[in-house]
Amino acid sequence: MVPELVILPPADWAAAVAERLIASVSERPEARICLPTGDTPRPVYRCLVERVGGGDSFASATIVALDEWLGLPPGDPARCEVRLREDLLAGFFAPPRFVPIDADAVDPDAAAAAHDRVAAEGLDLAIVGLGPNGHVGFNEPGSVPDSPTRVVELAPTSQAAAQARYGAGRTPTRGITLGMDRLLAADELWLLVTGAHKADVLARALEGPETPDLPASFLRRHPRLVVFADTPAAAGVSPR
Ligand code: GLP
Repeated sequence: MVPELVILPPADWAAAVAERLIASVSERPEARICLPTGDTPRPVYRCLVERVGGGDSFASATIVALDEWLGLPPGDPARCEVRLREDLLAGFFAPPRFVPIDADAVDPDAAAAAHDRVAAEGLDLAIVGLGPNGHVGFNEPGSVPDSPTRVVELAPTSQAAAQARYGAGRTPTRGITLGMDRLLAADELWLLVTGAHKADVLARALEGPETPDLPASFLRRHPRLVVFADTPAAAGVSPR
């Protein structure tokens, strides 16, 4: 499948993604949407809150968390749940329903299974970021298109990224992620990528071989994949 490629200057990128999301939800107010955390989507969430946070256009939507660290204390600002609440949901006068991943469950496998059941009810839209090692959510290298929602051991590069961001004492080694299967089953799939440091991995994801070494390469199998990249991130992608 040939994805739709939306390439924009960094200054315009976040607002354009936010506008497209606003348009999707206005078409389908009860949309069920999987959302990521990380540096990439943050400016999109800021724009979204600025544009529609005071209204009720997202009030009937459902946000499903993409992934979560295991082993961080409740309320830890590094938690994906906390980031989504603070960076997005808190900005809504009438927030959408939110389904986080229960990282405090006694049995993380049961928590993953419960989250999988939520995704199995269907996702209208799955939005994902791109890990520096080609991971999607926490579908680390080794993941395949039918990898399920599960507890995962984080790749060393993901642990190092967490350590760099959150400090040495708070380096989770495991996480829970929605499976590649659920992401590929969503009606529509958006890949968000910004920054020159992602240019090489994005080019390989879109134009290299499909391989478990780079799970994002399997996203091309989705019939409605939209890639939103800023110009530095898209520097290695062939012109269409
Ligand atoms: C993290 C998360 C992903 C995220 C990715 C990119 O480890 N598990 O869901 O999309 O890495 O993060 P960033 O946007 O900060 O580059």
